[in-house]
Amino acid sequence: MQKLISILVLIITLHASTPRATSLANNKDVLQNFGEVKTLLSKMTLEEKVGQMTQITVNILESQNDLTNIPNRANVLDPKKLQNYIYEHKIGSVMHELSNGKQDLAEWNKIISDLQDYAKKTRLQIPIVFGIDNIHGAGYLRGATIFPHNIGLAATRNLELCYDCAKVTAKETRATGATWNFGPVCGIGRQPLWGRFYETFGEDVFIGSQFVGSTVRGYQDKSIDNSNSVAACIKHFIGFSNSISGWNKTPSYIPDIQLREYYFPQFRSGINAGAKTAMISFNELDGIPISASKYLIETVLRDELGFDGLILSDWEAILMLHTEHGIAVSEKDAVRIGILAGIDMCQVPWNVDFYYNLIELVNEGNVPISRIDEAVTRILKLKYEMGLFENPYPIDEVKENYKKPEYKTIAYNTAAESLTLLKNNNKILPLKKGIKIFLAGPAANNKSSLHGGWTFTWQGKNESLYPESIPTIKDVLEEYIGKENVICNSIRDYDAKENFSLKNIKNSDVVILCLGENAYSGTPGFINDLTLDKKQIELVKKVSKFGKPIITVLVEGRPRIINEIEPLMEAVLMAYIPGEKGAEAIVKSLFGENNPSGLLPFTYPAFNGRIMFYDFKGTESGVFWDSAGNEFQFGYEPQWAFGHGLSYSDFVISDLTIDKNELKRDDSLLVTVKVKNVGIVTGKKSVELYTHDHYATITPSKKRLRAFKKILLKPGEEKIVNFKIRANDIKFVGSELEWIVEEGDFDIIIADMKKVFKYVFN
Ligand code: BGC
Repeated sequence: MQKLISILVLIITLHASTPRATSLANNKDVLQNFGEVKTLLSKMTLEEKVGQMTQITVNILESQNDLTNIPNRANVLDPKKLQNYIYEHKIGSVMHELSNGKQDLAEWNKIISDLQDYAKKTRLQIPIVFGIDNIHGAGYLRGATIFPHNIGLAATRNLELCYDCAKVTAKETRATGATWNFGPVCGIGRQPLWGRFYETFGEDVFIGSQFVGSTVRGYQDKSIDNSNSVAACIKHFIGFSNSISGWNKTPSYIPDIQLREYYFPQFRSGINAGAKTAMISFNELDGIPISASKYLIETVLRDELGFDGLILSDWEAILMLHTEHGIAVSEKDAVRIGILAGIDMCQVPWNVDFYYNLIELVNEGNVPISRIDEAVTRILKLKYEMGLFENPYPIDEVKENYKKPEYKTIAYNTAAESLTLLKNNNKILPLKKGIKIFLAGPAANNKSSLHGGWTFTWQGKNESLYPESIPTIKDVLEEYIGKENVICNSIRDYDAKENFSLKNIKNSDVVILCLGENAYSGTPGFINDLTLDKKQIELVKKVSKFGKPIITVLVEGRPRIINEIEPLMEAVLMAYIPGEKGAEAIVKSLFGENNPSGLLPFTYPAFNGRIMFYDFKGTESGVFWDSAGNEFQFGYEPQWAFGHGLSYSDFVISDLTIDKNELKRDDSLLVTVKVKNVGIVTGKKSVELYTHDHYATITPSKKRLRAFKKILLKPGEEKIVNFKIRANDIKFVGSELEWIVEEGDFDIIIADMKKVFKYVFN
């Protein structure tokens, strides 16, 4: 039915409807500390203030700091360097990473204590705030628990697990003495060429927002001054995940409507959850580097989105305004532009040039002292909120939070729920014990591919750093079905040549191929082509000649195209980057001890030239005829669609109902659906609710995800799942860049069922 195009447009305020839950808002202590901040600020010299705004890497303080050659030695800080940077330059913040990648808790504690010792020697004894990228568990701490990367978390559709992983991460991070975690990534995952795609929660803005909120709550809890919490850092503001080329740090061009509808909500969700800090990205957006944009930082991030915490630059992002972006005539000019745009702290991080440049800029009158005071106030406030003025050292009681056995259970459950069964011809899975398996593929006997980037080192690729106690897929499989039943020649080197003989494959019942990608991050993770590399494609073809059923496990941080070889596979299990319990979760899933329940958080494309998303527009699909009358279909035809994921249970979703046909502005619509497990094993199912706006002033998507609920069903069990849909759930960004809802007809879509309701203002 034709929609009443709105004259009466409901404007939903740009500030989200949920109250902002910053601990600042309801914490008297913080306000009291705010007074202390003022007093402290009044005592500070310009040098002391600028020192606070400077963040360096701990690497330059080490006695030996050759990152490329990781020797077998402890990480030790050099007293002369500490004296220079911390005491003489009064640097206020230090970040990782340590050079040998082998640091245990004692080593971390010593390092952070050494830093604080030197801070204590300074005139005002302002503690150091230490920041780190523990983005999937405390990945830089030996013995800590490593969880799946965000892309796998999104596949679980389980926000409690996401919260639990973040909570454990916070506890183990805090145990080291670090109090600031550079996460979560809030960028949307719509550029699979990007080497950091796996750090996103995938292509959907609703899922992204929900998981960002849970992560921030898990990191920060109710306040950040206790043993269970660290400050979160929502990053990277803004548009970093979606450069045109996919190459790291390159230009993004995002229209304003899209920016507000697809890119801001994840940040807003992090802000609503109370995120204390935010990181400004390296990239330019529509020709302006974000680090230089007062409009994006002040007008948008602060005023429009309501962020009132500390703003940190990304690594060398201010310097880049001169060296790469070409908008600042000198390094000093870059500092002027970045600080005037609203950056409070600069991740320099290799030297003190920023410090000297900023002091000069203030002395020359090119940066007002008021801007410096504002930035330093936020930095000191954060340190007070973290409790660092009371005790800057790693706290003994907190150290007990480290390495608890229950963390491993959370890691297993999360990995297990993330696994997504993409294909299962003739129900070949689950496998039965007692068969012989030929196991091959680069990820079969390798740990780094299961962990990905940001594990022990930035690239996460150094196999020798992974503890013996963490098993590979081969290790777990051998233990699970007996060594004698696993034929595998893979060595612990991802790039090693596969070395197997025809005879071996003939002796097996089933072939399991573990394919995908080794660990990577950032620029080194860029690829020119999404297609899985030739070597692995050839491996599948070669193995397929032996006529044994092929089961593929994909260990990869983004969809690598496999359309050519997919028909050769009987089953495909997507593992993403599952972390330290990944191997166990994979093997148990293959044998049915875990029933896969993950759903794809992105569209798995079939072709490089057709990167589409599930919420495509009307013109993106259809039929046409050429002059000879031949019909061509075009549209959303991925290898596997967003939200796809099979189970060993059989679920029947039926009886979609809505409690009324008209939804009014302040009312809600009750949607119910029945879900029954008609299979023979217990399983979990995420029920996903989409809407479709029939007609709107901005072209509507075919469908948009608005809600999901994951339930557990025993064989034969049936449950009713309810959702409440409100005006807020069907809003979109209109031509005036405001969130609006227009009157008219909407579909509610669950599984293959649809109901229509009309939205009316009154
Ligand atoms: C990354 C950030 C990270 C920072 C500190 C940068 O290269 O873009 O995400 O937090 O380094 O390690």
